[in-house]
Amino acid sequence: MVREGVTDLLVPGDFCKKGPGSRTSEVFYNRQMEFGRDISVLFGREVFQEGQRILDGLAATGARGLRLANECGVRAEFVLNDRDLRAAVLMKQNAELNSLGHVTIHCRDLRSLLADEQFDYIDIDPFGTPVEFIDAALQSCRNRGVIAITATDTAPLYGAYPRTCLRRYGALSAKSPFAHETGLRILIGFVVREAAKLDRAVEPLLCYHADHYFRCYLRIVNGAMRADAAMGKLGFVSYDKKTMRREMALERASKSDAGPLWAGSLHSKDLVRAMRTTGDLGTAPRCAKMIEIWREEASVPPMFYSMDELARRTKLSPPKLAEFIEHLAEKGASASRTHFDPKGIKTDAPLAELLRNYRSMAKARAK
Ligand SMILES: C[S@@+](CC[C@H](N)C(=O)[O-])C[C@H]1O[C@@H](n2cnc3c(N)ncnc32)[C@H](O)[C@@H]1O
Repeated sequence: MVREGVTDLLVPGDFCKKGPGSRTSEVFYNRQMEFGRDISVLFGREVFQEGQRILDGLAATGARGLRLANECGVRAEFVLNDRDLRAAVLMKQNAELNSLGHVTIHCRDLRSLLADEQFDYIDIDPFGTPVEFIDAALQSCRNRGVIAITATDTAPLYGAYPRTCLRRYGALSAKSPFAHETGLRILIGFVVREAAKLDRAVEPLLCYHADHYFRCYLRIVNGAMRADAAMGKLGFVSYDKKTMRREMALERASKSDAGPLWAGSLHSKDLVRAMRTTGDLGTAPRCAKMIEIWREEASVPPMFYSMDELARRTKLSPPKLAEFIEHLAEKGASASRTHFDPKGIKTDAPLAELLRNYRSMAKARAK
């Protein structure tokens, strides 16, 4: 048995594996995803409302859905589903272990459940790509509801397999120092286009990259005009390795551009401002640190630079990241850390200005 937050969970014996989920002969459980589930609990505490229907669609042991039911402090209807009968049996035991007998458990193909019922929150946490569930989830999600998606097929989204990315997401990925951000934005862009077919718009509430996966919490809102507006925030990113120039444009300008991808904000500023970690969470310090960085980067334009790139380009060893950010802010630019890369910097300063400031700071430091 393990404990996450204040929820006890019976889990299979070999649960200590790291990395993305894979199909195994046992019910799936990955301790490394505790951070992601802690964030789900913090998200649920801010967003769930009384009486809503909350679905953990691919629940396995029930770790996420049961924690949402047990730790969000909201009186809602919680539904857990997995097509594997052993998973359904285990999640029922786990529900009883935590006195959560009121949780509904289904053992169905998620797409068939979504075709029959409507929900205010749909969690999709698959092995690999979520694409096969997106259309059904978009049709089942109530107006102003939320779809939460995990994608562990990071290699295609990072640009390692652009053809696979094109096949799955209808978008071209490309390798770059900021490929983690490109991949996340391709995933969001895909959902925006799928939703627009149904005259529905997507508003990203909290989208991030962690460990081996992407995670997006997306609000789904009815309206053709809103859907058009969301489509208007799709674009293409170009990257020139030699000059370090990266640019976002509405149209694809060259064969090597990545996209279409989401060019808008990754986080709701109000939500990340409101989210507060609590001591009962197993990964509380990591949650607090991430929330702080999400708050900072919510106001800065997309596509970060890495200090390593700046060092290579200028042939000067980097100043401290925090000091460089402060220096840019003193010069009147917006600048922040980014959760994508501990050595990453987001800024609205034009590249020439960024390099000029980097050089002057790195040289002063070397003296
Ligand atoms: C990665 S695991 C889910 C992990 C879980 N959310 C957690 O936090 O521990 C994916 C689960 O989806 C289930 N699954 C895969 N395809 C499905 C489908 N079409 N319908 C319902 N369940 C499915 C698998 O049986 C597996 O238990």
